[in-house]
Amino acid sequence: MDLKEYVELDKNYLLQVFSKPDLVIEKGDGVYLYDISGNKYLDFVSGIAVNLFGHNDKGLKEVIRNQIDKLIHVSNLYHNIPQIELAKLLVDNTIKSGKVFFTNSGTESNEGAIKFARIYSIKRKGALAYKIVAAKNSFHGRTFGSLSITGQPKFWKNLGPTMENVEFIEYGSIEDLERVIDKNTAALFLEPLQAEGGINEADISFWKKVKQVCEENDCLLVLDEVQTGLCRTGPLFGYKDLMIEPDIITLAKGLGHGIPLGAIIIKDKVAEYIDKGMHGSTLGGNPLACSVGNYVLNRLIDDGFENKVRKIGNFFKEELNKLKEKHPDKIEKVKGKGLILGLKLKNENISSIIDLLRENYNILITRAGVDVLRFLPPLIIEKSHIEYLVNSLNEVLGSRT
Ligand SMILES: Cc1ncc(COP(=O)(O)O)c(C=O)c1O
Repeated sequence: MDLKEYVELDKNYLLQVFSKPDLVIEKGDGVYLYDISGNKYLDFVSGIAVNLFGHNDKGLKEVIRNQIDKLIHVSNLYHNIPQIELAKLLVDNTIKSGKVFFTNSGTESNEGAIKFARIYSIKRKGALAYKIVAAKNSFHGRTFGSLSITGQPKFWKNLGPTMENVEFIEYGSIEDLERVIDKNTAALFLEPLQAEGGINEADISFWKKVKQVCEENDCLLVLDEVQTGLCRTGPLFGYKDLMIEPDIITLAKGLGHGIPLGAIIIKDKVAEYIDKGMHGSTLGGNPLACSVGNYVLNRLIDDGFENKVRKIGNFFKEELNKLKEKHPDKIEKVKGKGLILGLKLKNENISSIIDLLRENYNILITRAGVDVLRFLPPLIIEKSHIEYLVNSLNEVLGSRT
């Protein structure tokens, strides 16, 4: 079959909720992807912040092979070793004393976190204490609870009423925090850096206030690290740069490196309120996915990815800033940190730039929000790849009137 035929079959048999170019990817290796005609593409998307070590990673394949020879799935009716090891690794590297619940995706992690926060709050503060506060422009997932706390109304269109008692604050607004969070607030959900919403950061003064307001109101701080976690912003988890400690952390994406895996890390003070039977999952925490999670986390730590990402991320950002100086009429702002970076453009057709980079330069990038080009390369990206991207962008922007 050729490209045209595959694209046609996709249209005939897959629900058309995704916008895709006419590109069928067949395999990957390192920072490159290959289509069915053998064309090679430089990957600045990494499966939307999933393929941290790029494609066809030898160590990952070995872990998967070894695990499938032993056990793929056993359910949560029994203990399994990779799950126990990964839970310990996650707790030891975050809140030190807590419990983990494993899921299969980011939205499921947030879904569970909403339940845990509401149980904690209602049991402590009464039946009405179930308000959830989240941020405008946030993104927390597509299932009903996560969708309801996603601060982008376009995602709730034609769905009828979403979850009640959810309020949105401006991301970074101290004034909003003080106005909206009260004793009936169960949890404040925030991303350490808003990813899908346009690569937005908040000041340290905001995070300081978050800590204070949450403490004053016995409101749990839930940090959605689905996109920012696992060294994407530099530190192992994005919050480590913000001088705060969350009560709950939600994870997915890179943790499973493509094998569906998510996690909710819950402080013991919250976990104490969750009884047997209050939550569950058939596949969550299966040994195959958790063996991958152990490999990912151990490698990030052992190979010093925190420093690597900070260093290469700084270089990348400097290069983007130089590009901005060359195109002040086209680039409004360079955004983000580590290896989640963006270019906010002025009056540019974002989709056509993405298309041009793919068609003429064999580079894959994506977008965030309405006007931001987003760069999410594998964490193994090197200077030469970044230089090629920036030079290509320079040509693309220069060729536009
Ligand atoms: C911050 C954040 N939370 C949650 C999700 C949803 O994750 P998933 O698509 O695995 O359900 C995403 C996905 O992009 C995300 O960026």
